[in-house]
Amino acid sequence: MKRVDDFRLKFGKKEFVPIMIGGMGVDISTAELALEAARLGGVGHISDAMVTDVSDRRFDTKFVKNKLQIYKHNIHNSDKSIIKFDLGALAEATRRHVESTMQAKKGEGLIFVNCMEKLTMNAPRETLQVRMASALDAGIDGITLSAGLHLGSFGLLAEHPRFREAKLGIIVSSVRALQLFLRKNARLNRLPDYVIVEGPLAGGHLGFGADWAQYDLATIIAEVVQYLQTEQLAIPVIAAGGIFTGSDAVSFLEAGSAAVQVATRFTVADECGLPKKVKQEYFKASEEDIIVNTVSPTGYPMRMLRNTPAIGAGTRPNCEAYGYLLDGNGSCAYITAYNREVALHPDLKTLSVMDKTCLCTHMRNFNCWTCGQTTYRLKDTTRRLEDGSYQTLSAEHIFKDYQFSIDQKVTLPEARPVGA
Ligand SMILES: Cc1cc2nc3c(=O)[nH]c(=O)nc-3n(C[C@H](O)[C@H](O)[C@H](O)COP(=O)(O)O)c2cc1C
Repeated sequence: MKRVDDFRLKFGKKEFVPIMIGGMGVDISTAELALEAARLGGVGHISDAMVTDVSDRRFDTKFVKNKLQIYKHNIHNSDKSIIKFDLGALAEATRRHVESTMQAKKGEGLIFVNCMEKLTMNAPRETLQVRMASALDAGIDGITLSAGLHLGSFGLLAEHPRFREAKLGIIVSSVRALQLFLRKNARLNRLPDYVIVEGPLAGGHLGFGADWAQYDLATIIAEVVQYLQTEQLAIPVIAAGGIFTGSDAVSFLEAGSAAVQVATRFTVADECGLPKKVKQEYFKASEEDIIVNTVSPTGYPMRMLRNTPAIGAGTRPNCEAYGYLLDGNGSCAYITAYNREVALHPDLKTLSVMDKTCLCTHMRNFNCWTCGQTTYRLKDTTRRLEDGSYQTLSAEHIFKDYQFSIDQKVTLPEARPVGA
């Protein structure tokens, strides 16, 4: 019986344990988590979502405060189009986040940064270009393009000295999205180094519509593998979404995937950025508690726990401080929803906005509990402590469980004393 460790992910002549920990913004996939994946010979991701805020928290910079200072006169104005990110500050925040991670890297693995196109920041092209270029300048091993079709993203990097040397990959949820990406980038003569195929059971935003349940990862992977073979394109395919055990991973590796990308099992790792209390919510969740809704202003469906505090919260839009989801015209679907509720209930002190949420504010405060479909199984991966809570696990334990387990088994961690 095979185990994940019998396979290797190959980039050129280099070989890696075929386990990638997926990017989880905002700082849920921390540097500490990514570093463990790299130390153990796999691939870890940090995320550049809300990176100025992440830098403020990690390095005591004042990027968010400075931006708020400039725009605070606009707080009561529903038109947010004047709010612009300082590109120099964005570059500096990215540099700090990436550089400090890369300086701490040990082991043979790699660290990539997850770059979401949907973080449009009221200047989609300029801000994405700065984020990616700055990550390359700071020595990141690779960039995973996500949350968007990224038809122009390679073009934004084409002049960068590391464009052909760094690993560049894209997340897609269909063979059509991949075909479109390859067609649009053909003139650059630079293929992606890997393609992550993310199915409908993943956490975060989904690359599917309301009919997500009709799709299945194995089928999409088979279509992608077939297409690449027909086109004679040797691009490693990485399967993501709902892969919960080492045996699940092996089935994808045997079916032509070069690696797997996993995330949900690591949401309860000690190194994961979620607060301790939120990790307990993930452990406690039952299958009925996991829902897919459209509260994200990005327009993509998103999976989350039903009791997510962000749902229904009538938070005043915080774009003067954050504003990461402002589109190229300075709009965001949450601002529209919020203003509608204010107009309907002018005298209400505490508003409820049900259809959209202020994703920046709530992701920043870990109040949007996005998760994968397998979250309800997390309780089976650990021990229950005397006080009724669940024991968190080391990232190393989870990683090695994927790497070495067989027969759909999940190895429980060593017992720890309460509070440790
Ligand atoms: C809490 C959480 C946050 C996530 N955030 C992001 C993100 O910011 N960007 C992204 O591309 N994918 C995100 N994802 C998707 C993961 O990177 C990964 O591809 C997917 O969840 C793998 O499936 P699994 O969680 O079933 O293992 C997130 C997943 C989780 C669980």
